[in-house]
Amino acid sequence: MEDQIKQQIRKLKDEKNAVILAHYYVPDEVQDIADYVGDSFYLAKIAKQSAADIIIFCGVSFMGESAKILNPEKKVLMPDRTADCPMAHMVAPGKIEEMRKAYDDLAVVCYINSTAELKSMSDVCVTSSNAIRIVRSLPNKNIFFIPDRHLGHYIAEQVPEKHIILNDGCCPVHASIRVDELKDEKRRHPKALVLSHPECDSDILLLSDYIGSTAEIIAYAKGSAAEEFIICTEDGVAFRLKADDPNKRFYFPRTRPCCPDMKRNTLEKLLHVLQTEENEIEVSEELRTRALAPLDRMLELAR
Ligand code: 13P
Ligand code: SF4
Repeated sequence: MEDQIKQQIRKLKDEKNAVILAHYYVPDEVQDIADYVGDSFYLAKIAKQSAADIIIFCGVSFMGESAKILNPEKKVLMPDRTADCPMAHMVAPGKIEEMRKAYDDLAVVCYINSTAELKSMSDVCVTSSNAIRIVRSLPNKNIFFIPDRHLGHYIAEQVPEKHIILNDGCCPVHASIRVDELKDEKRRHPKALVLSHPECDSDILLLSDYIGSTAEIIAYAKGSAAEEFIICTEDGVAFRLKADDPNKRFYFPRTRPCCPDMKRNTLEKLLHVLQTEENEIEVSEELRTRALAPLDRMLELAR
């Protein structure tokens, strides 16, 4: 059955000149059939460059929206329009205006995991793989980092010369990774290296050997001579980790971190949108141009 669906997807994809982009957190079989699989930064770059007529984005709303903002000529479809990142909404626009009034030289730095409206109110976007470099390169001393307080806190530690104002948002999946469960895994596997995403709480990061975006965690594990790893990020990365190194062992905290929104991207829904071209992402031209500026600035500064 799965093979049949995959065959249909491949055929329709070619007929319609469509390209499938998938984040590392979507189900294994969707990663398996995608043309490009990556972290948020890689996928944003691919979306901007794509020459396909249709981009099918297997991820969450802010990713599909960013693809449309960066490549407005393309039809951008998502297998499930309800797949949304709760953190993308975790700052009130009024709060941004309040901060701008409080600091003359404020830069609003917006984690890409945000709605188009929040991006449009920001000076620059970042992802977890380029945030430190971009924040360091800004001329502003005062930075309002939205929406993720954990990533913001991690950047503040790495870039102490900046005054980083944190916002009270977080990723419910990464923030729920428990220190006691990580300590249990460390006891069980004393030789394992701990690789964590910066969306985790600082208590988790303090116990980590390496901190990076999903793609950076995967690259680190691949390049490392170690044979065992405890992974503190969403469990979808296991598919690539195991494919890259079948002999290495990867452990997750007992309550396996799983993003229900990412997992809404099933093969069946992917086939359905390819057939029907439903679930198109629409962004008004006025909002698109305002949200494009901080995304373009990110791509420029991260170069
Ligand atoms: P990255 O893919 O940039 O590591 O982001 C993780 C994430 O939570 C995406 O929703
Ligand atoms: Fe949002 Fe967290 Fe899910 Fe990523 S893992 S989409 S940040 S809820």
